[in-house]
Amino acid sequence: MVLVTSGWLLTDPPTVEALTPYDLRCEHRADPLGIGTARPRLSWRLASPVRGDRQDAFRVRLLRDGVQVWDSGWRTDDRTYVDHGGAPLTSQTDYVWTLEVRDAAGDQSETSATFATGLLNKEEWEAHWLEHDYDTDPKFEPPVDRAEPRSVRQATIAPPRYYRRSFELKQPVARARVYATAHGLYQLSANGQRVGADELTPGWTDYRERLAYQTYDVTHLLREGKNVIGAVLGEGWWSGYVGWDTRSHAHHYGKKPQLLAQLVVDHPDGSRTVVATDGSWVERPGPIRFADLLMGESYDARLELGDWSSPGYDATGWAPVGDMGADPSTLIAATTEPVRVTEDLPATEVTARGNGRFIVDLGQNIAGRVRLRIRGAQAGDRIRLRHGEMLESDGELYTANLRTADATDYFVSAGAAEEYFEPIFTVHGFRYVEIDGYPGELTTEDVTGRALHSDTPVAGRFECSDAGVNQLLSNIRWGQRGNFVSVPTDCPQRDERLGWTADAQIFLPTAAYQADVLTFFDNWLADLATAQTDEGAIPDVIPHVITGRHGTPAWADAATIVPWTLYRMYGDDRVLRKAWPSMRRWVDYVHRANPDLIWRNRTSGHYGDWLQVGVSTDRDVLATAYFARSVEFTAAAARVLGLEDEAATYGELWERIAQAFRKEFVDAEGKIRGETQTGYLLPLAFGLLPEEDAAVKHLVADLEQRDRSLTTGFAGVALLCPILTKYGHADLAYDLLHDDRNPSWGYSIKHGATTIWERWDGWTEENGFGPVAMNSFNHYSLGSVGEWLYADVAGISQSPESVSFRDLVIRPRRGGRLTWAQGSYDTPTGRVSTRWEITDGVLRLDVVVPPGATATIHVPTPDPDSVRESGQPLGQQVCRVGAGTYSFTAKA
Ligand code: BGC
Repeated sequence: MVLVTSGWLLTDPPTVEALTPYDLRCEHRADPLGIGTARPRLSWRLASPVRGDRQDAFRVRLLRDGVQVWDSGWRTDDRTYVDHGGAPLTSQTDYVWTLEVRDAAGDQSETSATFATGLLNKEEWEAHWLEHDYDTDPKFEPPVDRAEPRSVRQATIAPPRYYRRSFELKQPVARARVYATAHGLYQLSANGQRVGADELTPGWTDYRERLAYQTYDVTHLLREGKNVIGAVLGEGWWSGYVGWDTRSHAHHYGKKPQLLAQLVVDHPDGSRTVVATDGSWVERPGPIRFADLLMGESYDARLELGDWSSPGYDATGWAPVGDMGADPSTLIAATTEPVRVTEDLPATEVTARGNGRFIVDLGQNIAGRVRLRIRGAQAGDRIRLRHGEMLESDGELYTANLRTADATDYFVSAGAAEEYFEPIFTVHGFRYVEIDGYPGELTTEDVTGRALHSDTPVAGRFECSDAGVNQLLSNIRWGQRGNFVSVPTDCPQRDERLGWTADAQIFLPTAAYQADVLTFFDNWLADLATAQTDEGAIPDVIPHVITGRHGTPAWADAATIVPWTLYRMYGDDRVLRKAWPSMRRWVDYVHRANPDLIWRNRTSGHYGDWLQVGVSTDRDVLATAYFARSVEFTAAAARVLGLEDEAATYGELWERIAQAFRKEFVDAEGKIRGETQTGYLLPLAFGLLPEEDAAVKHLVADLEQRDRSLTTGFAGVALLCPILTKYGHADLAYDLLHDDRNPSWGYSIKHGATTIWERWDGWTEENGFGPVAMNSFNHYSLGSVGEWLYADVAGISQSPESVSFRDLVIRPRRGGRLTWAQGSYDTPTGRVSTRWEITDGVLRLDVVVPPGATATIHVPTPDPDSVRESGQPLGQQVCRVGAGTYSFTAKA
């Protein structure tokens, strides 16, 4: 196994001397295989050290087998993307594209990248769905070989099965690709080697409508002569446990896992061999005796199958498969990065608890699993691994907050001198592992934590002079990593792990500063649209399973907030085009039910300002503010899409909602019904008040009266620091940032948090652990303050009219304990970065603006006359610049 020690890191732009394109993408992915569209979008970033540099023109050419199939021609345009404009692409074909860009001085630079199309037509699928043939195996009984199952529910999980097919290639291999997916989870092998490094494939989508297939290059694994392709198949989201469902077996989408794969081998003479799943495959159970995302995995090394996916293996005894025929109706090409192991964490501490029982600390709460080295075990020895996020005060593992998720793996030894165990079809949210039944002494070297998540490319970096704030950012980052596991989940540990819509929309701006999450959320939005009810309501969780609730204020509004935010961050109007019908149907639904424009009816579960502290934000205030927000974004989307009538209609509706809001909730003194922090923050942030001073005054008074302490829950917390800063109270925002009393971010950090907690009082000095019914230590919602760190502390944001950061606002706010802060963000056109530092009464601000962008830079000094840029007096605090590197000094 190759350990991933580098972590989830930012790739720096190249160091260049002139305008240079880099990071070429097709459909927003680097050199993707198996794209599902015949007219992909090609995009690139730019780097240049030259001040004021920009792309004057570009030219894209597309080649197939070295032959040009499309030439965009030189286009005088500073856009850094183009949609393929030639004849529709051919299915299952490799393409190369070259990009030339020309700068303002007429100098050119050229680079190239690749992509390959997948199966663009459903008729090309020859593969049949395979499953274990239950009919010819009447004795089949799922084993109950897991000790102490938390509930009998586990007994119904069928053990994963191994599938194989041997075949002969009569000619050499020029190119070989496998297109594969499963109703369940699968891992492919070919000739004894694992195929690819993707995990938990095919990922979670609304399988009733959309099932992604993955494309792998296996050219290097195959050869002329005998070959074998094989797969392990487990249940996953398809038929395993998801959420807290208490049915005897989860079966959200189907009852049994099924496999689908199509291997396509191209030979040098142009001929093609296709080996697809069909009745000629064979299958059997193997060493994985049990696997479930929530419950864990059991592995019996005594049952290992040896070289089962290699030629020459004796497959006697393997059973015929159940051939369920072809049905490609739900298949779509994967559009986003898969889950991968992105970092391996060595154990930091092992504590012996006696009798072969140990508690291992990874030092970091993650979503993932453990790889365990076992030495000196006897055949049949069983080792149990239980996972938890926290320890009890006596040092034992705390698991009460997992509810019915077992999060337990078992390994049974075959008695070899050295063995390794790592489950493949489960994922746990944990920092600590209890390892029981280990032979001899367990050391930190025997245990590695493997962090798993959707491998969204890293986009941002933030660091400052304060260790507590850096830890907060690390916690936010790990919250994102632990919860972006194929879909944006609420938490990775308990029997939940659902795509809660409010959590997703609240955290999205922060998430987007940290990683390129465009395709990740675009994929999720497709499931959101699919799940919308006939009336137009959006379920609380996407993909839609379990809750039965839909149309909740702030939750269902993800339908408008997510596409609009993605558009603003990435500038891809196709997101809006796709989302438009569901945006519009959503706001129409709320409007129909609330003709007087105060959202009181059809509020579903109405969670209010979820997990607020000791106050109760008025629910109608919250709902109506969100109604306005959704209508505002729907109108804005209509404008971008050129739908003038709709833009006018929704724009006017927004005016009326704002009026109704003021009339209903704002009194003569500017107090807002309920008088809570969130109650003030929402209308301030959503622009619902014509006169804002009173609301700001009441908000600040509330904070002061509470000794500068917050009361916000999920809905309010993201707005707190940005709004205080916007209205001249950055000092208060910094106080909240540095606060370490309960409730605050600092309180959890003071008590050792390495991720963001679900509730402010997840653990307190007075009461210990919070309510077990709902107490995750890895929930990103309260981490939505991350946006403020990037936008206001590092000072990287864009003007209200700007999309994809083409018109930057660089406005760092000094304050609190910070003496320096720095940040960078990879905008769709290139990297912007800032760094400010105060030494000996002098402020220094360094800014890099990417090619093509403009920036309004605010130098945070009390003395505008003192501002110098690159040593030259500037004499003003604010300046407007183009691309380049700028270095300001001023009085601090
Ligand atoms: C989830 C939340 C979610 C909430 C809705 C919880 O169980 O973990 O994050 O938004 O339910 O009230």
